Order: sequence, then structure tokens, then C-alpha cells
Amino acid sequence: MHPLASPPSPADPALVGVFDSGLGGLSVLSVLHRTLPGHPMLYVADSGNAPYGERADEFVTERTLAVGRHLVDSGAKLLVVACNTATAVAVAALRERWPGTPVVGVEPAIKPAVKASASGRIGVMATPATLRSAKFQRLLHAHGAGASIVLQPCPGLAGQIERGDLDSPEVIAMIESFCAPLRAADVDTVVLGCTHYPFVRRHIQAAMGPAVELIDTAWPVSRQAARLLGAVDSDSVPAGRVQLETTGDVAHLRSVAAHWLDFEINSVAAAPF
Ligand code: DGL
Repeated sequence: MHPLASPPSPADPALVGVFDSGLGGLSVLSVLHRTLPGHPMLYVADSGNAPYGERADEFVTERTLAVGRHLVDSGAKLLVVACNTATAVAVAALRERWPGTPVVGVEPAIKPAVKASASGRIGVMATPATLRSAKFQRLLHAHGAGASIVLQPCPGLAGQIERGDLDSPEVIAMIESFCAPLRAADVDTVVLGCTHYPFVRRHIQAAMGPAVELIDTAWPVSRQAARLLGAVDSDSVPAGRVQLETTGDVAHLRSVAAHWLDFEINSVAAAPF
């Protein structure tokens, strides 16, 4: 701690540790910051190892535990796994390793999609690792019964979004190729099952057409985080510090955060692990 910094008092809002394989979890951080404006947040982008979605499960688990260790050591009182892939593959390992620290994960919004869909035809866009995971298959069985659900793996899309150019021809061409089978299946609802995808929502909407509803889970995840922290809604609290760290390129994260986020970031640094 800096010698002039005052020690945290018991009344200080708890530090929330947030992470993703890379930049996608910033879509969750953004909503978390709106939901819990007084809480300091430390976001780790494991961009040096992204994307996770095409990696082996062992690798994703190892990285999730390494980032989790850093967040817990930094004083995080709640962990938000802002990554569907890391949640699907490794949230159980994280909970087992730190049983005293509450963990909120993100999962593709199957249940809300079934509720929202009039036709019962639903598309799910996610990484290959998420879709093949046992956790996702359980979610599908628990909440997808009766609906016709088309699973669309999107290899490469998170990696393209990581590059930071959300309007590149490569991003738009990939979205078109992944949305074509969903259009052919005539789905009326699409689950954005990767936290990178909300950043290209407008292109997915354009490819699917205006009548198709796109659903992601940032708001329910943030409300769950608020419940676990016992947080009270308040617009008048002083803003908590938001720090970003990356295992990748710091200048790239700084530039992306400046373009993609609409609130103040207090520091952007290399992850020290
Ligand atoms: N943003 C992540 C997710 O929600 C992971 C993307 C990736 O690294 O492949 O699944």
C-alpha cells in the first residue's frame, strides 16, 4: 500500500475482482460498475492467453486458477468470472480452491431465451469450449426442454474482437457466416453466449434482422453480484476505483477501454503474475 494511503476501514466497499480471457468481460464490467458504482473493481484481461474458447479444458482451468489467485491476493471479496468459457470449464475448480470467496459466473441465457421466444426456436452463439462443456449441456437439459435450440459455435470470433476493430471486414464476414444457419433455422431469439459478442451486437442484429431478439447475461450477473455483496442501490456514492490489468498489451487495453467504456478508468497496467 502507498505510505500515504489510508488503511481500508470495515465500511469501505468490498473490492470486486473481475476477469475474462481478454477484453470481452469489459461488457460485464461496464454493467457491474453501473450496478455497484461505489465498489472498487480490479479487472484482469488474460489477453496474453486469449482466446480460451479454442483451448483445452486443462489450459483454461490452469489460467482461471492463476488469475483467481491474483485477484484473491489483491483483496477481492467477490470474484466475477466474466467469461462463459471459463465459467463452463473451471468455475467449480475456482469455488473449490477458495470456498470462502463468493464467485459469480456467466452462463448462456437459455432460461431467459426460452421465456422470451414466441416460436420456441432459439439460437445460441458461443465458443466451441462452452458448447461442448458438461456444464452447458446440463443447462440445456434443465432449461431448454421443449424448445428447438440451434447451437452455433463461433471459432475465431472472440479472437477477432480482441484485435479491437469491431467493424473490420473480417468481423463482419465471420458474423455473417455464423448467423446464416441461425437465419435458415428461423430462430426468433439469439443468446449471446460469449462476453465478447455484445461489443459486436449491432452487426449480429443486422445479420439476423431487426425482429430477432438478442439476449446476454450482464444485467442478471451484476444483480447477483449486488445481492451477494448486500449492496444498496445508490447514485450518490463516490465512484469506486476501477483498475484494469492485462497479461497482453497494455497500450491496446488502454486504447480499447477508452473507446468501449463510458466511465473513468483509474489505471491500466501489466498484470503482475
Ligand atoms: N469472452 C469469453 C466467453 O465469454 C471467452 C472468449 C474466448 O476467449 O474464446 O466465452
